Amino acid sequence: MEFKEEFLQKLKSAGSVVFFTGAGISAESGIPTFRGNEGLWKKFRPEELANFDAFIRNPGLVWEWYQYRRKIVEEAQPNAGHFAIAEMENYFDNVSVITQNIDNLHARAGSTKIYELHGNIERNYCIDCKTYYTHEELESSGSAPECRLCGGLIRPDVVWFGEPLPQNIFSAAENVARNSDICFVVGTSAVVYPAAYIPGAAKSGGSYLVEINIEPTELSYRVDYSIIGKSGEILPQILEKVKKLKNR
Ligand code: OAD
Repeated sequence: MEFKEEFLQKLKSAGSVVFFTGAGISAESGIPTFRGNEGLWKKFRPEELANFDAFIRNPGLVWEWYQYRRKIVEEAQPNAGHFAIAEMENYFDNVSVITQNIDNLHARAGSTKIYELHGNIERNYCIDCKTYYTHEELESSGSAPECRLCGGLIRPDVVWFGEPLPQNIFSAAENVARNSDICFVVGTSAVVYPAAYIPGAAKSGGSYLVEINIEPTELSYRVDYSIIGKSGEILPQILEKVKKLKNR
């Protein structure tokens, strides 16, 4: 694919790059996105599954839904898009990943600086005493497990509707976005706030905004460069350009 010259010049001079990612980057790993015809929110109602009241009302149902999603994630592998982002660390001074995904695939692909805005499905904690549990530490029964220390219910460490984002992580992410030279917005509909403030933060700091998506989004008219295509195909091509431009 031919990339626009202005973008190539930015790639050449950039020291600090940010990848702000959403469900679309993991779509080619077989993990369903949220919106769109095949999206999770077409089949399941978020208000019944992804909020604290629903969990208290019916812990078993919510736990079971996360078990189902955890299984999909466990069986999935990072794709060429995740790997290309991880490899970018060899060519820029600073590479940060700010992700809305809870699937841990960026870490599994080798990225080292990751800001997880919506948590991580592999972690769990007790709602009463806040003790953390990895998934292996929990018995895999159908119902929500109970804390070994206090008997409280254990929930996945993910952000549910109506809950605040981890403030320290969000602030740090906003900061790296604002200080970046290029901010890639990859595979996100960019409609869920406050996460969707990240591209604006980058732009306000003078970063060059590049969107990679299979279709135009609400953000497309505000970015410097919109690339239409699958992230698993586009990102490796960008990596190849970077290798040449950085002469390494
Ligand atoms: P969405 O499902 O809203 O959007 C996924 C985006 O990925 C869409 O814009 C697709 O066009 C695009 N896409 C799909 N396949 C792609 C591919 N192979 N390459 C590139 N782009 C592709 O998912 P998010 O924007 O991540 O929040 O959703 C944001 C938040 O809404 C999620 O983190 C979740 C959800 O409710 C919480 O659970 C708190």
